[in-house]
Parts: sequence; structure tokens; C-alpha cells
Amino acid sequence: MDTFVINGGRRLFGRVRVNGSKNAALPLMAATLLTDQPTILRDVPNLADINNMRRLLTELGVQNLDTPTTADAIAGETTPSQHTGVITFQAVDESLSHAKYDIVRTMRASISTLGPMLARRGYARISLPGGCAIGERPVDLHLRGLAALGAAITLDGGDIIARSPAGGLKGATVFLGGTFGSTVLGTANVLCAATLAKGTTVIESAACEPEIIDLATMLNAMGAKVHGAGSPRITIEGVSELGSVDHTVMADRIEAGTFMMAAAITNGDITLDNCPMDALMAATYFLEAAGVRFQPVNGLAMSVVPGTSASRAASNGQRTPTLTATTRLTEAKPDNPLRKTIRVTSERLLKPIEVTTQPHPGFPTDLQAQLMALLCLADGNSIITERIFPDRFLHVAELSRMGAKLTRLGPTVIVQGVRRLVGAPVMASDLRASASLILAGMAAEGTTIVNRIYHLDRGYERLEDRLRSLGASIQRVDEKELAACEPAPAAV
Ligand code: EPU
Repeated sequence: MDTFVINGGRRLFGRVRVNGSKNAALPLMAATLLTDQPTILRDVPNLADINNMRRLLTELGVQNLDTPTTADAIAGETTPSQHTGVITFQAVDESLSHAKYDIVRTMRASISTLGPMLARRGYARISLPGGCAIGERPVDLHLRGLAALGAAITLDGGDIIARSPAGGLKGATVFLGGTFGSTVLGTANVLCAATLAKGTTVIESAACEPEIIDLATMLNAMGAKVHGAGSPRITIEGVSELGSVDHTVMADRIEAGTFMMAAAITNGDITLDNCPMDALMAATYFLEAAGVRFQPVNGLAMSVVPGTSASRAASNGQRTPTLTATTRLTEAKPDNPLRKTIRVTSERLLKPIEVTTQPHPGFPTDLQAQLMALLCLADGNSIITERIFPDRFLHVAELSRMGAKLTRLGPTVIVQGVRRLVGAPVMASDLRASASLILAGMAAEGTTIVNRIYHLDRGYERLEDRLRSLGASIQRVDEKELAACEPAPAAV
């Protein structure tokens, strides 16, 4: 099991590109089940969750191949030597419709295969996802939405079994609101299912998250008729089939927000390329209130450039698309509001703020833990209330081990700003809590050891390398190396 060893106290300085979004890519990948035509996704991050989804899609009869780069082509390789970020999906066996427990238990987003499989194959069997470190996470709204389209849903041996009626799913008006507001993957599931249903579906209280807009954009490019994505009412006119598509995954707003806070907590100065500012309105609003500064940068931006697209014969005689997926500096496009280059700096001492997490466009729950780390060092008392997952606070006890002054009252944590955090061994409990502890470790005096960072690898690609490129002292070590590690003395 790998661990991070962080020596705190270094300012971050430099430039980094925000990757494609995990939470957009997962439902997009599941949506490839809606057609037997090839679909290409670009800027897919190289993450444990993405690899689990690929494994699941393979089990469901979807071939998914990394598209070779031109470097591979020059080397005469027909299969890519590394993750290129460009994946071609194609359903080759549509009789396989069972998402089994061994994969579903590793990744809750497996549930997003339910709607596409049901709509296209008329049958889906998927293990019921259990709870996880951030809370109970039921799927009742997903099932309610699909049942409204006519699906017969039963439970058997811990599996959800969903069947379309004879004649297929039928459009309906579906209310998807729940106790904690809308549901992101539930909206994705019903949206996907409705694209192939007969007639018109209206989703009321739909999730407004940017990842839903990205999904609708791809579905429309495949031939679907989806209107209103990004608002609480989405209308879908069903079509008889969907075709192939070539789609670039939106930039990861949570990764971008995490880098913003990494700059702020180290009093650094970093530039983010491919930064989806329009998807981060609430986060940047609250960070500005705390004293973080954002400045658009004109000129060159770091981006993944597809380069010259070519084809060549693979060894099996099939034509394989060949693309470059290198990172290059190109002219920034100020006309594209979703892909901005932004410089992030901050005031030396941050101001305390009061923040409540909410469904989009409110402050995202996926940045709550990182914000808490940041506010630990603000000049006064902040209040954070969690309204999406009221128990998503496993990082509280770990941050406290580093000298944070935190008081939890139900879904609210009072953060008393302290002058310094002190390095300590801590335990990552979930993906975003891991990021929070890494931020705290970079700002703390001395050495922080973050255990169980496999959680982090689910959602951040090579985070330690990218933070190191910005000047952080952070090393990934295995158990043996950790035993040999001498903690650095605390800075005075
Ligand atoms: N909920 C229900 N019933 C349902 C579905 C959800 O009560 O049928 C509740 C949940 O328990 C929660 C709230 O509704 O209280 C919102 O949950 P939602 O369904 O929106 O969450 P999700 O779609 O399962 C996605 C992200 C999460 C992110 C949430 C909220 C993916 C793969 N996951 O989960 O991301 O926290 O939306 O924005 O897109 C993460 O990346 O760290 C992460 C956990």
C-alpha cells in the first residue's frame, strides 16, 4: 500500500494543466452502451475509477481500446505504449448485461450503466452498490426514474434487475428530487434511458451539474434530442437509435478547485490551463471572499493537442485511428469560456468565511474537505455546512491530528483558524479527504505521512508528480521505503 511523505512549508509556483473530468468521463463511458457504433472519448484521465469502468464495460461486451499515438505509430506499435487519453469504445456483444458485485463494490459509478443497458438491451442486472465512506448513498431515485419510464425493477441476491416492457421504455414526466436535492448519476441514468424511449420524457428537479451538460452534449452529437441540460428541467424526445461520436471530456472542475486551494494554502502563485471557470462560479466566489485572487492569463496555454489524425492498418487488418495526444503550448482561446488559463495567488493571511455545500451551481461537496484544510489557516472562525452528504467529515479527526481546531455539530463544522499546522501521520479515508490532507501537509511544518492514498488515485492523476513540478516536496513510497524514511525536523 502506497503512502505520501510530504515535507511542508514550500510555496507552489508554476504552471499545470487541468485534466479531463473523472465525474464527467464515467457516465460518458457508460453512455457508450447506448450504441453498437464506435465512440471516441478524448482527454480521459488515467485513474483507478476509469480503469474499473473500462473493466466493467469489457464485461458488458464493450471493447475499449487506447488509441495509439503517432509516437507509437513511428515505433511501429499497433497497440499504444501508454495511456493516451483517447479511448475508442464499441459494443461488440450486447447479450452481456450483468454488472457484478466485484466491480460495483469498487466503484459506485457502475450504477450509471443501468439506464443505458436497460434502454438499449431491454435488460440489466447490476449489483446494488453499498454505502461508502462519505455516507449511505441510496439509489432509490435512479430506480424511481427508470420505473416511471416503464421498467419493471426487482431485487434478487443483492442485484437490481431491470426489464423494459414489451415495446420498450416509454417517455414520461419524472420527478427526481430527493431529501438532499437532485441526483447527478440518477439524472444521467434517466437521461440516457430516455434517449431511446418512445415519446417525450421530462425530468423535473434534474441535476444541473456541468457533467450533465457534457453528457447531454455527447448524446446530442450521437443523434439524441435533449434540451435544457444544465437547468432543473430536461426534456428528451426519444429516437430509435444513436450513432458514433468523437467527444472531448470536459475539464475537471474539482481538480481545478483543488489546485486553486493548493496555491492558496501554500501562499503560492500558480497558473492553471484548461481551467473550467464557468463551472466553478461558487468555488471562486467563496475563495475570493477568503482572499484568493484569480487573474485570466492571455497568450499561451498548455493543452492536449490531437495533432495530425491518420489511420493505418493494424496487425489484425483493421484500420486504427492514430492520434497525437501530446501536451503542447498553443494560443489560449479567450472565446472559449470553459477552457480558460487562470493565475491563482492569495493574500498572505486568509479571511474566515461561511460556506454551505449545495447542488450545482452552489459550492460543491467534492471541494468541502479541501476548503476545510484551507480555512484551518484563516485569520478567524469559519463555518462549513455539508448539505449533500451530511456525514462527509472523516477528514475532521485527521486534520485535528495536525493541530487544526475543528468542532463538529451535526452537518456543520466550526473551523477556528490557527497560525500553523504541524506534520503528522494521517489516514486518508476517501478521495477528497485525501486531497484535503495533502493540502494540509503541504502547508504544515515538518513531515506529514498520508496513508492509504489509493483513495486519491481514484480521482487525481499523478497528483504527486504534478505538485512536485510546482515545487512541493511530496514522495510516493511503498511500505518498505516508508520504514526507511527519516522524518525531516520541523521548520522553526
Ligand atoms: N441520493 C438519494 N437517492 C438516490 C441518489 C442520491 O437519496 O437515489 C442522495 C445522496 O445520498 C446524496 C444526494 O442525493 O445525499 C446527492 O447524491 P448524487 O446522487 O447526486 O451523487 P452521485 O451522483 O452518486 C456524484 C459524484 C460524487 C459527488 C456527487 C454530488 C460521480 C461519479 N460522483 O455522485 O463525486 O459528490 O455527485 O455532487 O459523478 C467524488 O468525486 O469524490 C464524488 C463522491
